[in-house]
Amino acid sequence: SKRIAVITSGGDAPGMNACLRAIVLTAHRFHHTVIGFKHGYNGLINDEKIEFTISHVQHIIQVGGTILKSARCTEFTTPSGLDTAVDTLIANEIDCLIVIGGDGSLRGLEKISQVWQGQTIGIPGTIDNDLSGSDNTIGYQTAIDTALDSIDKIRDTADAFERIFLIEVMGRHAGFIALASAVASGAEQALFPESIEDPHLELESIVQHVESLRKLKGKSSFIMVIAEHLWPGGVNDLAETLTNQIGIECRPCILGHIQRGGAPVAYDRILATKLGAYAVECFEHGETRVMVGEINAKQVTTCLSETFNVQKQLDPYLVKVQQDLFDIVKTLDAP
Ligand code: F6P
Repeated sequence: SKRIAVITSGGDAPGMNACLRAIVLTAHRFHHTVIGFKHGYNGLINDEKIEFTISHVQHIIQVGGTILKSARCTEFTTPSGLDTAVDTLIANEIDCLIVIGGDGSLRGLEKISQVWQGQTIGIPGTIDNDLSGSDNTIGYQTAIDTALDSIDKIRDTADAFERIFLIEVMGRHAGFIALASAVASGAEQALFPESIEDPHLELESIVQHVESLRKLKGKSSFIMVIAEHLWPGGVNDLAETLTNQIGIECRPCILGHIQRGGAPVAYDRILATKLGAYAVECFEHGETRVMVGEINAKQVTTCLSETFNVQKQLDPYLVKVQQDLFDIVKTLDAP
């Protein structure tokens, strides 16, 4: 019997609990013990842990957040923090550390793997979908649906009041949530970092687009989905700038942490279950310094450093369709 440590780290993502459940159940199949360290890397530094039994993970597949708690741990980024975390792994006779998290969390795991002999396996858990090595990260599909639900509601009031709304979605420095939620909601415009070099240069085109659309008969509301961090000064500043340029009030709306919560959609529960089980199987097969993922519906492993060093591309066809639809509407004649 071996000892597997697990943490959930960084921004929580719907499906992390489903993943913990799969890890504990699969480890049980191989007669391994699973120790959960709490509050991300802090749990390793402070030796704050629970030994998982099957009853801990019963009926958590549908629950958002993470029963292990999460954190962004600054102490872990210091040499002494790293040393303490490794000491804890050694003192607890851990054979494998599994980290469920995003970019920063997997960077941390890579650091540990450079100084610790045990096996290290990452699982992509972030709403941002910004890790190479898996088509989807756990939580991303739920976040899109949550954002979409809010955007649909804003459309009702935007239509009723014939207003322009600028809706900021999360994604860190990537446009996955912005592109997907904009296309799915039929937003008139989507602004995300992958398609924009200098947002200020885009201002003229944004203004033109808003104006040409507002001339169309029956087209009274206008929704623009904007990735966070895209506009210097944030979406409130962009709304004010546009209001001044167009002469019509533009309303900002920041969806924020709503996008991180809630019950995971079926896709995320299934992905989390597969990747949790697969991570334990990879441990059995002696794999280390990898992240597990799913590409074209096949389970794969990718070298940890590649997952955060290689920039993951947006679906190019979706980008093209979004752009084409945007252009078609722009060229329509006013009635
Ligand atoms: O990585 C998930 C995420 O929600 C990002 O989309 C966002 O930029 C960031 O975390 C916000 O982090 P915090 O909750 O620590 O402010």
